[in-house]
Amino acid sequence: MSVIDILVDEHRLVRKYLDTLGIAIDLMGTGGELSRDFLEKTLDFSNTFLDSYHHYKEEYVIFVKLAEKKGGSIDPQIVSLRDQHERGRTFIKAISSAVDGYLDGSEVKKAKLFENLGYFYQLQKQHLNRENHVFFPMAREAFSEAEMEGFVEEFMKEEERLGPETLKYSETLVEEKFHRLVACLPAYSVQFDWSPW
Ligand SMILES: [Fe+2]
Ligand SMILES: [Fe+2]
Repeated sequence: MSVIDILVDEHRLVRKYLDTLGIAIDLMGTGGELSRDFLEKTLDFSNTFLDSYHHYKEEYVIFVKLAEKKGGSIDPQIVSLRDQHERGRTFIKAISSAVDGYLDGSEVKKAKLFENLGYFYQLQKQHLNRENHVFFPMAREAFSEAEMEGFVEEFMKEEERLGPETLKYSETLVEEKFHRLVACLPAYSVQFDWSPW
């Protein structure tokens, strides 16, 4: 499996996470309530998996190596992808700061939570599609098999640093998050569709 295949595989887990989040946003928009457990799992996955595990591989391995390879010609695209990672972190901070107030019944915090969940969801969906359909194909073309092998070693080093259980833990978070949501609204268990966007 090449490093790009590894990243595409990780995107599948992120898609499940986002699909669940999309349902939660619909639920909230039609008067439903989100639980603390669901919201904490949403934040935990973003911090543990997206930022620490997945974005590190993109930003510090693939983006850097591809920028070098292309000699500056795709720097604006890479800056834009990095900027999307950063904006995602900003939305997550805003979501995190609204959770307690929302659960205490504040209408202002509820609006802030709803707005930032929506921004985060749309941004991440667009970002994943862009990486899958534009950036990763470019990387597949640019790197040789030997270069890709070298990146696998970089990935492994980072996985060792974060702990071998990070991926399993993140998969469990998404599964549990989905089940918490289905428990809130059983009808969604029938309508839910895991197919790609
Ligand atoms: Fe990314
Ligand atoms: Fe990604």
